[in-house]
Amino acid sequence: MKGVILAGGKGTRLYPLTKITNKHLLPIYDKPMIHYPIQTLVDAGIRDILIVTGGGYAGDFLQLLGNGRQFGLTSLNYTYQEGEGGIADALSLAEHFADGQKTCVVLGDNIIESNIADAVNDFRKQPAGAKILLKEVHDPERFGVAEIHQGHVTNIVEKPREPKTNYAVTGLYMYDATVFDKVRTLEPSARGELEITDVNNAFIREGTMSFAFLEGWWTDAGTFDSLLRAANLVSQSRTRPAC
Ligand code: DAU
Repeated sequence: MKGVILAGGKGTRLYPLTKITNKHLLPIYDKPMIHYPIQTLVDAGIRDILIVTGGGYAGDFLQLLGNGRQFGLTSLNYTYQEGEGGIADALSLAEHFADGQKTCVVLGDNIIESNIADAVNDFRKQPAGAKILLKEVHDPERFGVAEIHQGHVTNIVEKPREPKTNYAVTGLYMYDATVFDKVRTLEPSARGELEITDVNNAFIREGTMSFAFLEGWWTDAGTFDSLLRAANLVSQSRTRPAC
């Protein structure tokens, strides 16, 4: 399976921190943000990664990460998203890289504690479709929110005002190669973006979406509060005594 990290977008919610750099190059405790999604994929056994970035500082990723050997990668690839057309628009740039294979997609600002290798291995065995990882949260209105009936995800609503559940859809997605056909059918949402939630709902309608719950803590890092929270969570997990 191939790995795709989406690290485009303008990071406007973190302005002025993102005035002179890309959000994913900001520090989370002792490492640049982009190191964490790379490590998430490496820990899941994925060694062939594409980073989709954008904006004015894309060259800095190359300077920071080079060929990815420091992470033990076989290959580290880069591509560039023009503008900020949304997560699904950024993903569409990975079609050539995926080359018909399954992909594990991680949002560049999602930081996790646990190892997703089991879910990735389950998806390797899944004949077709997609798999998402859910996490129960106290503030679901900030995320895509999943409804579950009889063991299946039946619908996802992006940032609902009145969420029906507390199950946030994390920024860790697994897709077969039909994802790119599904992206091609999308229309921009009210916020002018191609939404990953619409992609996921297309797999749900098709009956090929599976899910698992993510273990350990999970946070995004796209706001001042979540950026701080991410740093604190990483710091605590570094200093926690081994048991
Ligand atoms: O963190 C999980 C949430 O991420 C999900 O629950 C939501 O369903 C999903 O839409 C997304 O919500 P956000 O509004 O928090 O996403 P945001 O715009 O902050 O983008 C997250 C990452 O996606 C960002 O760090 C880089 C990448 N991205 C985003 C956009 C808009 C791109 O690569 N290109 C883009 O155009």
